[in-house]
Formats: sequence, C-alpha cells, structure tokens
Amino acid sequence: MPLSENEISDLFILLNDHYGYDFSGYAIASLQRRIKRFTSMNKINGFPELKKRLDDDPVFFSSFVHELTVNVTEMFRDPTFFQCLQQKVFPSLSTYPFRKIWHAGCSTGEEVYSMAMLLNEHRLYDRTRIYATDINSDVIQKSKEGIYPLRFMQEYSTNYILAGGASSLSDYYTARYDSAIINNHLKKNIIFSFHNLVTDVSFNEFNLIVCRNVLIYFSPALQEKVIELFYNSLGMLGYLALGSKESMLASKLKNKFEVVDKKEKIFKKIV
Ligand SMILES: C[S@@+](CC[C@H](N)C(=O)[O-])C[C@H]1O[C@@H](n2cnc3c(N)ncnc32)[C@H](O)[C@@H]1O
Repeated sequence: MPLSENEISDLFILLNDHYGYDFSGYAIASLQRRIKRFTSMNKINGFPELKKRLDDDPVFFSSFVHELTVNVTEMFRDPTFFQCLQQKVFPSLSTYPFRKIWHAGCSTGEEVYSMAMLLNEHRLYDRTRIYATDINSDVIQKSKEGIYPLRFMQEYSTNYILAGGASSLSDYYTARYDSAIINNHLKKNIIFSFHNLVTDVSFNEFNLIVCRNVLIYFSPALQEKVIELFYNSLGMLGYLALGSKESMLASKLKNKFEVVDKKEKIFKKIV
C-alpha cells in the first residue's frame, strides 16, 4: 500500500501532533518501503484504517515506530572502526580525568557494550559515563536488559578479536540456556534513555559522540541539523564518529572539524 504524497504528509502531522515524532526529514523511499511492509503484515486496508489505528492504539503505534526505525546492529560492527578508536581516540580520552561519551541511535545496545568492553581493557571505563539514546523505547528497554541470543556470540567474538580486543568476549557475559547476559559491571556507567535527534536539544558536553548508521536514513537537511546538534554537544577537541556510509563533507560545519580517520569516519572538533 504505497501512500500518496498527501497521505504521507498527513501521517507526518499525526505522528508529530499526537506523539512528538517528526519523521518529515527521513528519506521517503525507505519510509515508503517500511510502511508498505508494515501495512501488509498487519493487514491494513488503506490509509484511513492506518490513521485510525495509530490514533486509537498506543501498542499499534509503538510497533509502527519500531518498523519505521531500522534497528539492525551488532557487537563490534565494522571491527576496524573499533581498532581505530583505540589507536587514535583513546589516547586523547585518557588525558581527561573524567570522560563523557554519547551513543546516539544506540538501538539494542550491542555497540554501546562493545565500547564499554574496550574502555575497560584500556582502564578507562571506571571514570567514563556513557549516555546511550534512541527514539525507540522498545530497543532502549532491550539495551538496558543486555540479553542477547547466545548463538550470535561466536560471530561477535570474531569481531571482537578483529577489533583488537585484549581479553575474551566470554569474560563479559554469563551464558544461561540460549542467552548471553551482559555482566552488571559493564552496565554500571551507562545511562540508557529516550532522545529524539530530530526534536530534542543538546543535553550535555561530550568528549566523544558516536552516531553510526542513523544519518543514512535522514534527508540532507535533517543530517545537517543533527550534525549541528552534535557540534553543539561536543567539547573543544571532542570526537565525532559516524557510520561507514555517512560523511560530513557536505556539511557547512566541515571546516570546524579535522578528519582523524577518513575511512572510519572519525572527526575532531577544532574550532
Ligand atoms: C541502524 S540502527 C544503528 C545502531 C548502531 N548505532 C549501529 O550502528 O549498529 C539506527 C538506530 O537509530 C535510531 N533512530 C532513528 N531515528 C532516530 C531519531 N530521530 N533519534 C534517535 N534515534 C533514532 C533507530 O531507532 C535505530 O535504533
């Protein structure tokens, strides 16, 4: 059920007015694909029915938001990125007595726990606070629980070794039945919470912001707005890490950053 332009803008108004979710800057083609999938899975016949269900049923609304936001993630995704972080960013982070890191668009938490493990191995974790945020409350809940299918751990363990992990991935979780439960020690300095990159403001000053595989779903104008938010949320000489398919070369703020690693998309605020 592809929606017409008018229906799409109606939908954006409804989502914004009722729930404060602004999807108007998201890339339309991929939104259309996901709306189509969602409506056919839920056997929705036409836009009026979709609108009514979204209006009336908060559980239905929540699963709609889940569908619109792509939550694919893994531990040590792009291992060379994590290797680069340790080589080019951690030495500078270690010069601060206390560090603040923001994972924006953290999904179900795998990326955040990967960071915590490496900080732990560099003896940086205890004096670091990690803020991990997302627009989707279901994934925030899963992040807090930190329980992942045990069958994924073999692949994650390979990623961990490629990322330069110095210990063993199994040191960080307890296996129970078919689940891997992240150890509490790794959770203690992480705050998971709701934050909408489109509508919410800066809430702290960070030494490192990690926002990977989120901007690809936004229009160029929305990407610019979010990069501005990151610029305003970074301390001087703070780092910004984006996803492998993302860049800030088109941003008007690009001259305020130095490229730390072009391939791994790591930038440093210099002005
Ligand atoms: C593909 S996942 C990326 C997860 C992780 N950063 C990684 O690279 O593996 C994208 C995440 O961005 C979140 N997201 C989408 N729009 C957002 C917004 N406006 N504000 C905050 N998070 C958003 C989604 O809910 C989803 O969890």
